[in-house]
Amino acid sequence: MFDLIVRGGTLPDGSVADIGITGDRIAAIGRLEAEAGRVIDATGDLVSPPFVDPHFHMDAVLSYGLPRVNASGTLLEGISLWGELREVATVDEMVSRALRYCDWAVSMGLLAIRTHVDTTPDHLRGVEAMLELKRLVAPYLDLQLVAFPQDGLYRTATGRENVVRALDMGVDVVGGIPHFERTMEEGAESLRDLARMAADRGLMWDVHCDETDDPLSRHVETMAREVTRHGLGGRAAGSHLTSMHSMDNYYVSKLIPLIAESGMTAIPNPLINITLQGRHDTYPKRRGLTRVKEMQAAGITVGWGQDCVLDPWYSLGTADMLDVAFMGLHVAQMTHPEEMARCFRMVTEDNARIMGLSDLGLRVGGRASLVILDAGDPTEALRLRPDRLAVISRGKVVSEKTRNDARLALPGRPATVRRRRQG
Ligand code: FE2
Repeated sequence: MFDLIVRGGTLPDGSVADIGITGDRIAAIGRLEAEAGRVIDATGDLVSPPFVDPHFHMDAVLSYGLPRVNASGTLLEGISLWGELREVATVDEMVSRALRYCDWAVSMGLLAIRTHVDTTPDHLRGVEAMLELKRLVAPYLDLQLVAFPQDGLYRTATGRENVVRALDMGVDVVGGIPHFERTMEEGAESLRDLARMAADRGLMWDVHCDETDDPLSRHVETMAREVTRHGLGGRAAGSHLTSMHSMDNYYVSKLIPLIAESGMTAIPNPLINITLQGRHDTYPKRRGLTRVKEMQAAGITVGWGQDCVLDPWYSLGTADMLDVAFMGLHVAQMTHPEEMARCFRMVTEDNARIMGLSDLGLRVGGRASLVILDAGDPTEALRLRPDRLAVISRGKVVSEKTRNDARLALPGRPATVRRRRQG
């Protein structure tokens, strides 16, 4: 007797199985004859581990147009607009915008998010708001907070002090933004400082590292060195790494093995990178996405992050990690069937690994968190970005949606159309 059985779904590896859930755990996977408190028929549908977003800015979410839109579309104007907004936004406003976004996330099967929290202002209202948000969503959504010195660790008088204060308040992960420090040397020093901080406190480390088109920026190299020095492999992630797009190929042939040696992971953010990078180019315009396939070939774990939804940096966004993977697939030209399947794993399993969420995944004993999608397989899910028919978090159904087929009015044609290839 299970609390819940998800019957007959297709798993990402193509196998068909029932999933039996007891409490908040997956108790059995296979052909299950037992009874259950509730049975969800997933025949022909894709049953996947939940989506995970390892890079987000929840303190700024749903603030698009406040105080005004980003006219130039650049990273720097976005930072400047946010600098105005964070001084007037209240804790309640931030919590309420973020909660609204978390509802979207849950409805899309996105059940774990790492969010950078700006620690620049001395009032630290963003930190206060995000700690409150984390408490509110904890029963159904994993939220990891990163102490993020948006305006630089050393570039503001209290930048470093505020990162330490935020960590003392309970923020989970050490951040960083070396390319925004005043000089390359101060950027490198910030990395050495922050790596020590993460190591001393036994915390994870996630750096906005080289979110720039500068082919000569060298912070990725320094970060990898510090990860190796402090044994932070598996606990450290380099976010963006867009400078690698523009670097000389010979130099990259040295850099990628250094990253692999360190064990650090990589989080490109394709929607934002393709939007913000290359803004100083005429034609040809660089895409700004880091070297995803090349890093994966070297054994480096690479995920896809979303970064922004309706905020000073990005005027769109849906909370759908399949949109993120869809863009990443195109920009990184990951069109081989194995690469497309990889893109789906990047926003589920690989992102979970990056965040250290070892009990997520469809296996007996694993956490009973999963998503049922109106698609036959992961590639079809990427193509359609389909309805999430049901979302289960820790054994509880937290979102359901009716299958939505278009009704046709064409003589001699079927009454409804489904865009699925199979199922
Ligand atoms: Fe970011």
